[in-house]
Amino acid sequence: MAKVKTKWVCQSCGYESFSYLGRCPDCGNFATFCEESVQDTPQLKSNSAPSLVLNSELRAQKINDVKNDEKIRLKTNMQELDRVLGGGFVAGSLVLLAGDPGIGKSTLILQTCKNLCSKDLNKNPVCALYICAEESPEQVKLRALRLGVNSDCLYVTNQNCLEEVIKQIDEIKPEFLVVDSIQAVFSSQITSSSGSVSQIRECTNILMHIAKQKNITTVIIGHVTKEGNIAGPKVLEHMVDCVINFEGDRYKSYRILRSIKNRFGTTSEVGVFNMEDDGLSEVLNPSELFLNPSESANCGCSVIATLEGTRVLLLEIQSLTGSTPYPNPRRVARGIEYNRLLQILAVLEKRVGLNLSKQDVYINVIGGIDIIEPAADLGVALAVLSCARDIPLREKTVIIGELGLSGEIRAVDNLEKRLKEAQKLGFECAIVPCVNKNISQKINKLDIKVIQVSKLTDAIIQAFKQN
Ligand code: TYD
Ligand code: MG
Repeated sequence: MAKVKTKWVCQSCGYESFSYLGRCPDCGNFATFCEESVQDTPQLKSNSAPSLVLNSELRAQKINDVKNDEKIRLKTNMQELDRVLGGGFVAGSLVLLAGDPGIGKSTLILQTCKNLCSKDLNKNPVCALYICAEESPEQVKLRALRLGVNSDCLYVTNQNCLEEVIKQIDEIKPEFLVVDSIQAVFSSQITSSSGSVSQIRECTNILMHIAKQKNITTVIIGHVTKEGNIAGPKVLEHMVDCVINFEGDRYKSYRILRSIKNRFGTTSEVGVFNMEDDGLSEVLNPSELFLNPSESANCGCSVIATLEGTRVLLLEIQSLTGSTPYPNPRRVARGIEYNRLLQILAVLEKRVGLNLSKQDVYINVIGGIDIIEPAADLGVALAVLSCARDIPLREKTVIIGELGLSGEIRAVDNLEKRLKEAQKLGFECAIVPCVNKNISQKINKLDIKVIQVSKLTDAIIQAFKQN
């Protein structure tokens, strides 16, 4: 009997080796190698030389002749999801929806199916097939009842063998396919167990071909490992058109949808949802969710306006300072970059003489959002100062501006847009960087008091003045 050939595959990155390795030379993880059998790849036939006759369907065409069809976007009627996708699912695309177990991936995708298949929302309801490889159709039905799913166009199966799934696809001919989850399906062509790197890679490959060939929009759901990687391999991310992450605090009800890779749109958009008893509801104005409705300002708190993609988010920044018994004081930054906090503290020390070398400093951005743009610098600096001096900042004031190393306040993009959002949410005053005449004229027309400052010291005088 022929000996079965095996190889060792790193379950973290997909690196292959002929022998067991304790540490993966590619990703550096320990004890991640598993033995898998090698499939003999079919030998090329000697007479399989490429044909010299050009197939007319495959002929290259001029870019101007390529059809630009708006209908290739499948709109889900969920504004938050559509925006993250860049205007809806592109027909025939392969999307990976990743997230921690229990965060609400199945709920989100079932609601998407509900909207796509609904006769009330669409002129031509989409036919969808939901592969619930982790649950039975009865369990999915329970969730569907909770979400009010009622459609003749939505099919469910808990078949987890991909070859059987393909038969179902041929029979039902869906336009939208969901595989929940990729870790639970397997291909009978591969001997390793489901969830292994080889299985995940092969199954995604098969699904990618089906999606492109039959023009079926496919969503695959993937779990995230403890380290935060999409379970198993990074290889998955390369194969799909879009990777969207569903994140959030399991103990809080809001969830954030973030696109990490998008071949058909920007990756800077976020969508915000709220998990309720009857499913996820969209949060169209997230600033309202993240801001504290209390009227009076607290010491150590400031409100900043940041841009997430095309949308302005008003977020509260909290700071806490306190003396430490240890020689090395702690610096904790949640929601802003650690090094940026160190830089802001250094500017505060040098330019306004705030010495925090014997104090711990904690910064927290409410809402679990990571601020990456520097427009929040001034807000962070003033929050720290407010806490250290125990004086609250001016009430109903939003603070916008980047802090330079010499204590200057630098301009930010889209100032007018940020101010409009602040005005909409009831803010009465804004401290902003100095801007040119044109912008100045525009922002002075707004119904919010705009104070332009050029130096940190000016900003401090204005921010601690009470109205
Ligand atoms: P689920 O979609 O099963 O998560 P995932 O597929 O990411 O593992 O959602 C799990 C959680 O969502 C569960 O803890 C219950 C909660 N949930 C609600 O709060 N309301 C609802 O309407 C639904 C369907 C779920
Ligand atoms: Mg699930």
